[in-house]
Amino acid sequence: MAQDVNSPDYTIGVIGTGTMGRGIAQIAVTGGFQVKIYDAQDGAAVKAEEFIHRMVNRAAEKGQMSEDEATAANSRLQIVSGLAEFAGCGMVVEAIVENLDIKRRLFNELEGIVAEDTILASNTSSLSVTQIAAGCDKPERVAGYHFFNPVPLLKVVEVVDGQMTAPWVAEKLDAISRKCGHEPVRTQDTPGFLVNHAGRGLYTEGARILAEGIAEPHNVDDVMREGGANFRMGPFELMDTTGLDVSGVVMESIYEQFYQEQRFKPQAFIRNRMAAGLYGRKVGRGFYIYNDNKKAPPEEPAPPTDLPESVWVGPEGHEGAAVLAEFLDGKVDVETGKKPSARAICMVAPLGRDATMTALDLGIEAERTVAVDTLFGLEGRRTLMTTSVTDEGVRDLAHAVLTADDIPVTFIHDSPGFIAQRVIATIVNISAEIAQMRIATPEDINKAVKLGLAYPKGPLEFGDTLGPAKIHAILTAMHDFYGDPRYRPSPWLTRRARLGVSLMTPEA
Ligand SMILES: NC(=O)c1ccc[n+]([C@@H]2O[C@H](COP(=O)([O-])OP(=O)(O)OC[C@H]3O[C@@H](n4cnc5c(N)ncnc54)[C@H](O)[C@@H]3O)[C@@H](O)[C@H]2O)c1
Repeated sequence: MAQDVNSPDYTIGVIGTGTMGRGIAQIAVTGGFQVKIYDAQDGAAVKAEEFIHRMVNRAAEKGQMSEDEATAANSRLQIVSGLAEFAGCGMVVEAIVENLDIKRRLFNELEGIVAEDTILASNTSSLSVTQIAAGCDKPERVAGYHFFNPVPLLKVVEVVDGQMTAPWVAEKLDAISRKCGHEPVRTQDTPGFLVNHAGRGLYTEGARILAEGIAEPHNVDDVMREGGANFRMGPFELMDTTGLDVSGVVMESIYEQFYQEQRFKPQAFIRNRMAAGLYGRKVGRGFYIYNDNKKAPPEEPAPPTDLPESVWVGPEGHEGAAVLAEFLDGKVDVETGKKPSARAICMVAPLGRDATMTALDLGIEAERTVAVDTLFGLEGRRTLMTTSVTDEGVRDLAHAVLTADDIPVTFIHDSPGFIAQRVIATIVNISAEIAQMRIATPEDINKAVKLGLAYPKGPLEFGDTLGPAKIHAILTAMHDFYGDPRYRPSPWLTRRARLGVSLMTPEA
């Protein structure tokens, strides 16, 4: 059954030698495989060959491999002039144009050329692997093999089981990936597969925060980078980098492919910004303005210096209130009784609730109340939320004390859940649902997102670190406030939060 991937003769065919195909061919030759490349466009394969040789030689110069290894790797690459030359391949991967009919036609033609047990793999990012396979005589040998750009740097690949894919196919692809130095993650053939599905939350919740007038793009990005979650880029920076012409289409497509699942709902402003050509970096204008490809920094509000005489934190016994009290200790008088004294400003730290409703429920004046996010503690950038009627003077006093140690503060309007709470809870919830739907294992979800999207933690790892019960509380409060099904907690999350066990806990 099928050729041995450890044989020195095992040959991988790569069709389409653009951005992705050349990267796949590069890791395959350095992984020890014989590689044949083909491109329909005249001269494209030659350019890819030159590129791959350059990359391999550079790796040798940097000491990542010896001269001899580089020479051997380069010698394993061969350009072929037609599909017939793929006859002896153990596996052929296509990275051609993203078009279902063209990919199906290619696989049909290949089936007449390659051996019965040659794997046909597709690097498609948005088409259904099952639909590509459905055009084949042997759909069981077809699988998705989804790499990320740039392939040599993002060392993860999704091995996608179509409806008809035989188990041995994914097993071979796993082994090939590892030889190429890539971590395979297994995923079912569902829209966005694993990484693009799990990555939705950052964009959709960021967009929702902007659409609702809670905060500006740079506020969301600053908090996601510096507020303790430690993302490398926030959602708007990411959209500007990828280009809204690309990420906007993906957003719409995944929402539609999941039959308008509200968790993936984009916002109307996205479509307008696409129509206006505000694509981001590549055109110099997106959510930010770019001069010479550099982002113009938004202004930080100048911090006031007058500290409040006294700050009441509450309610008593609340975890967030305790974090606030500890932070304020030694900086101002801290009150923790049932009610604030007449001279105090009031600080609360709700989870998934807004400042206005929190003040009303506690029976404190909304005019002198502010809320602070303590989800990630108060080491990094702080988020300060006002009620709908907070006095400006109260806000300034709160700002002064929060920034007294020179850590910056982000202001947001009232919201059920602060920026980090909303975005992280959404990310965790979507991944919990991926686990619930058995699209991938909890381990693969974390691995894929860390390697493919460079998140500082896997989504379920974020959930476990902060506590499943806390994430559940944020979502439940948001769901109660909005009545919007996008915030309903996944059964996977609800059960594990109630049981007090890790989100990695598999079903018995
Ligand atoms: N670019 C990405 O970030 C990315 C990431 C993951 C997956 N993908 C997927 O990988 C595939 C390729 O994307 P890309 O960005 O490398 O595209 P690309 O345009 O850079 O390269 C495609 C290459 O395929 C060749 N080609 C087109 N039709 C062909 C055919 N019928 N036979 C042989 N060669 C043909 C083209 O000449 C071109 O050189 C697509 O399915 C895409 O969805 C892209």
